[in-house]
Amino acid sequence: MPYSGFSLDGKVALVTGAARGIGAALAAGLAEAGANVAVSDMTTRLELARDTQSRVEAAGVKSATYPLDVLDINSISPVIGRIVDDFGKLDILINNAGIRIRKPALEVTEADWDATLDTNLKGLFFCAQAAARPMIAQGWGRIINIGSQFSAVGSVDRAPYIASKHGVAGLTRALAAEWAQFGVTVNAIGPGPTETPGMLAADDRTPEQVQADLDYRMPLGRRMQPHELTGAALYLASPAANATTGHLLLVDGGWTAL
Ligand SMILES: NC(=O)c1ccc[n+]([C@@H]2O[C@H](COP(=O)([O-])OP(=O)(O)OC[C@H]3O[C@@H](n4cnc5c(N)ncnc54)[C@H](O)[C@@H]3O)[C@@H](O)[C@H]2O)c1
Repeated sequence: MPYSGFSLDGKVALVTGAARGIGAALAAGLAEAGANVAVSDMTTRLELARDTQSRVEAAGVKSATYPLDVLDINSISPVIGRIVDDFGKLDILINNAGIRIRKPALEVTEADWDATLDTNLKGLFFCAQAAARPMIAQGWGRIINIGSQFSAVGSVDRAPYIASKHGVAGLTRALAAEWAQFGVTVNAIGPGPTETPGMLAADDRTPEQVQADLDYRMPLGRRMQPHELTGAALYLASPAANATTGHLLLVDGGWTAL
């Protein structure tokens, strides 16, 4: 008999920042594993988010698109309430929305700091809190926070980003400790460099400089593609991971192995 531990048949997932990049790939991957998927992003990206919805629906599951800006803390609970009404429940949250700012620490402004921490850490926390309520009520839930290899190690020119992503690792452990008793696991994925619109826009180096850096830092020797994170998300979202909580699963091409 085939192992059924990875099936997400009948589950309902919400992905934040799902219009493009890693969020779009994870939404499609969850759908291919059988989950119905609520797609969300900022209002300015809703058209793109509807493309993700089409990818999800192509897998034969239910989908809908919701405006959800994680900086608008007061809007998070009402949007999650609508999703629970529309889909009947919420089982899985992929807390993916995030931004990056690359500049030397001496040039970081208060606005840079606030934008990064408010999106990557504060918004992520309040999405987890709002999603946990219906999950705790039903006694089962999966919260998967998208961290980074910079949840585990440092680097130059990314101080607020690295602070936010280390915060994601710590918050993941704190929430895991509180919510395991309710059947809700909280884990993080730490992607390494992954080719997405956001990462390409933030990188002004030449292809030669990028390759030299990857040769030096990343045993895989290339940037990853967003779909290469799908397996990690499916594992953490699935019944197979019932006993895995508070974990940072690095999928970083070996970046942190060096
Ligand atoms: N690409 C990489 O190399 C890489 C590496 C490590 C971690 N990550 C993390 O993966 C996640 C996705 O990154 P990506 O590379 O796909 O980026 P991306 O910029 O291509 O996509 C990010 C998505 O998040 C959305 N978003 C941004 N601010 C938002 C807000 N306030 N509310 C709702 N949505 C918002 C954007 O509209 C966009 O659709 C981020 O948390 C990022 O830090 C990416």
